[in-house]
Amino acid sequence: MQENKTQIVIGSDHAAYQLKEKIRQYLIEIGMDINDVGTYNEDSVDYVEFGIKVSAMVSSGKYERGILLCGTGLGMSMVANKFPHVRAALCNDLFSAIMSRRHNNSNILVMGGRVIGEELAREIVRAWLETPFDGGRHQLRIKKFDRIEEMV
Ligand code: RB5
Repeated sequence: MQENKTQIVIGSDHAAYQLKEKIRQYLIEIGMDINDVGTYNEDSVDYVEFGIKVSAMVSSGKYERGILLCGTGLGMSMVANKFPHVRAALCNDLFSAIMSRRHNNSNILVMGGRVIGEELAREIVRAWLETPFDGGRHQLRIKKFDRIEEMV
């Protein structure tokens, strides 16, 4: 019988390739089923391309959750939040990661490979995966900003 593993899509640019490798290993350790869309080495690439790959898969519903990494996390989060239904949260600290799940129901976690180290990144990923959405008034707030897509 096939195991029912949680699926996650992950991508990075060259600046965060090393961190992606560490996070990928961690996700495997904790039993997740990962789709790694690259990049696969430290040759210079455009973060935009990998941001689009991951965000499109979350936006379409193919994956419930994604992780994006670049040097600062800024470029990836800007790209990701252009996609409908994507709520990408740039979290280079633990508190933001937890609150991005509780209050914002974030579905893409973004981190900066040149900002944080491996240990903190692992803690952030763990907390982000484990923390549920609070719902209630926070759901109403999300509905409110979802309408922006119809307004512009
Ligand atoms: C690449 O040098 C760098 O610009 C990129 O990783 C990211 O930090 C962009 O926001």
